[in-house]
Amino acid sequence: MRLQGKTAIVTGAGSGFGAGIARRFVQEGARVILADINPAAAEAVAAEIGGIAVACNVADGASVAALAEAAKAAFGGAPDILVNNAGVTHLPGFMEEISEADFDRVLAVNAKSIYLMARAFAGEMKARRSGAILNIASTAGVSPRPKLSWYNASKGFVITATRAMAVELAPFGVRVNALNPVAGETPLLASFMGEDTPEMRAKFLSTIPLGRFSTPEDLANAALYLCSDEASMVTGVAMEVDGGRCI
Ligand SMILES: NC(=O)c1ccc[n+]([C@@H]2O[C@H](COP(=O)([O-])OP(=O)(O)OC[C@H]3O[C@@H](n4cnc5c(N)ncnc54)[C@H](O)[C@@H]3O)[C@@H](O)[C@H]2O)c1
Repeated sequence: MRLQGKTAIVTGAGSGFGAGIARRFVQEGARVILADINPAAAEAVAAEIGGIAVACNVADGASVAALAEAAKAAFGGAPDILVNNAGVTHLPGFMEEISEADFDRVLAVNAKSIYLMARAFAGEMKARRSGAILNIASTAGVSPRPKLSWYNASKGFVITATRAMAVELAPFGVRVNALNPVAGETPLLASFMGEDTPEMRAKFLSTIPLGRFSTPEDLANAALYLCSDEASMVTGVAMEVDGGRCI
């Protein structure tokens, strides 16, 4: 029960890494809001694990403000723990061929959302002089693969935003960290690969020294540590959960 008595919001918790993180947080005693643009997905996971589903588009200021209202109703205010996990990618393609609409969508969901969530919750965390924020970045922000340029760059933003937030919020007792997952067994994987074939999987796996994809459980274990009081001296890190891919 490493999160006993804590409250948390996990965005994009209707699927993949976010669902795994929310599940683990509930198992460890936290009360968790699962925020997702897909309400049916969030509700299904929430019903299974015992959380609270809230429909939210993290790229939209009004929708994030409504999420803050939902947190107020459920928890009395900002959560102790905020996991900015929701993310999307464009399909693989040469950088000059990615559409403006895809670029805008990726940057809005992956980058602007970090600002919108900070705008909604950081002030209250500062006033309370406690809180843990975790941003899900990617190995893509450290060691970019070709043809995912604007996704890679969006995750570079997440890593720098994490460090900027950490240094500014540290005097207020609020910690901010990031996780850099390598390609993982989630519905998003097919979008990164372009085509989900044994050959493409083998190509991705060949770049991961530990020889397997990451899993929601891998991310949940790392998220649990960084968001718990065990990491009370850890802020501003972007920790790889990547089987050695970035070595
Ligand atoms: N799976 C991988 O290979 C991998 C690798 C590195 C980093 N990541 C990152 O991990 C995070 C989670 O990815 P995943 O693989 O679990 O993806 P996923 O597609 O399985 O789940 C993402 C969830 O986010 C939700 N979502 C999408 N846009 C949203 C929005 N605007 N507002 C709220 N919710 C929204 C989706 O409905 C979905 O439930 C993302 O930030 C992704 O970039 C994934």
